[in-house]
Amino acid sequence: MKALAWHGKHDVRVDTVDDPGIVNPRDAIIKVTSTAICGSDLHLYDGYIPTMQSGDILGHEFMGEVVEVGPKSTLKKGQRVVVPFTIACGACYHCGKHQYSACDNGLPADNQDIAQELYGQPMSGLFGYSHMTGGYAGGQAEYVRVPFSDVGPIVIPEGIDDDKVLFLSDILPTGWMAAENAEIEPGDTVAVWGCGPVGLFAVQSAFLMGAERVIAIDHFPHRLELAKKFGAETINFEQSETYEALMLMTGGIGPDAVIDAVGLEAHGFFVDNVIDQIKASTFLGTDRTHSIRQAIVACRKGGRVSMPAVYGGFVDKFPLGAFMEKGLTLKTGQTHVQHYMPGLLQAILDGKIDSDFLISHRMPLEDAPKGYKMFHDNQNEVTKVVLKPGMAAS
Ligand SMILES: NC(=O)c1ccc[n+]([C@@H]2O[C@H](COP(=O)([O-])OP(=O)(O)OC[C@H]3O[C@@H](n4cnc5c(N)ncnc54)[C@H](O)[C@@H]3O)[C@@H](O)[C@H]2O)c1
Ligand SMILES: [Zn+2]
Ligand SMILES: [Zn+2]
Repeated sequence: MKALAWHGKHDVRVDTVDDPGIVNPRDAIIKVTSTAICGSDLHLYDGYIPTMQSGDILGHEFMGEVVEVGPKSTLKKGQRVVVPFTIACGACYHCGKHQYSACDNGLPADNQDIAQELYGQPMSGLFGYSHMTGGYAGGQAEYVRVPFSDVGPIVIPEGIDDDKVLFLSDILPTGWMAAENAEIEPGDTVAVWGCGPVGLFAVQSAFLMGAERVIAIDHFPHRLELAKKFGAETINFEQSETYEALMLMTGGIGPDAVIDAVGLEAHGFFVDNVIDQIKASTFLGTDRTHSIRQAIVACRKGGRVSMPAVYGGFVDKFPLGAFMEKGLTLKTGQTHVQHYMPGLLQAILDGKIDSDFLISHRMPLEDAPKGYKMFHDNQNEVTKVVLKPGMAAS
């Protein structure tokens, strides 16, 4: 089959590789019909995520048709499913608490040590996202093996277009959980850093949860426009100083809740960000944490901090004093996708959530390297690239 493989920084190629097969009784094989490139994939593309190996198949946002099932899968051939990016067993202590991204059994035994050492405990597996997260082949491919297929994938009713439901795999539940973690109360003002897919779904979710005002921050005009369409006020951080603007807009109080939807590749020539960037490029540090620092400092006293953004390692200059003195709370984590999928599918079917506004480009799998480059180089206009393995190559 054809699959998009990582070969190094800014080097991804469509390779011909062996088809996947059933390995464990609960596996299913999915023929991929749609798969998206994620902001998280750019961290791999830019070489910031350790434990990648040449030839690793990428992709964690995908859906398709069930073509083969193991004896303990509950799926049936021919069903259309969306697959969550987190690989979780459904039966361990954490899965029992619906904290699927903390699953104890998502990683193969020989991959557990890396996360165990770095984070204290192993995490759930992730599709197409380094050997630290299990070394699982991803879904930017014609076919993919889905472990624990009796727990993860959600069956999509007939007649619903792929584009409407594809984002249930990751960014829609991630934006939703980000808003939930911000513990929004009616009348709240919520500030969202980053108007990428996660930030934009967080904006929609925050309004649905009762926020009175949402203030969205980015520097890409087109992405800020999309946030405005959902009713957000906006700050372009290249035109105004974010902290000052937020204080002006909130009468000096600060937002009740802040959401960091930027992550470890923050943009901008801020002193802390430039130092972080030098450290990351020389492997003296891992993360550029400008946005979470700024969010903590801008948040109102007693407010809530939600951090869907991905960070991987250690940080310095973390405003721990501001965090403590102001009495803030922080909630974060890889999304517990399985927990949110059924409710969000229903919200899409009921027309409560606009789920396909984001897609700016659709292209065949063969064009995936072009899609990565476009998404990387032109984030303003390229908001989401969806690869369609069945589509004729250009
Ligand atoms: N927690 C999870 O399970 C989960 C799931 C998916 C994605 N993520 C993470 O969420 C984050 C966002 O994902 P995405 O797909 O929307 O990414 P994206 O790269 O498309 O969007 C990030 C946006 O942040 C903006 N930005 C950069 N620096 C900024 C700054 N200083 N202030 C304000 N905005 C700034 C960028 O211009 C961009 O529009 C990433 O870190 C991604 O890895 C987490
Ligand atoms: Zn993703
Ligand atoms: Zn589990």
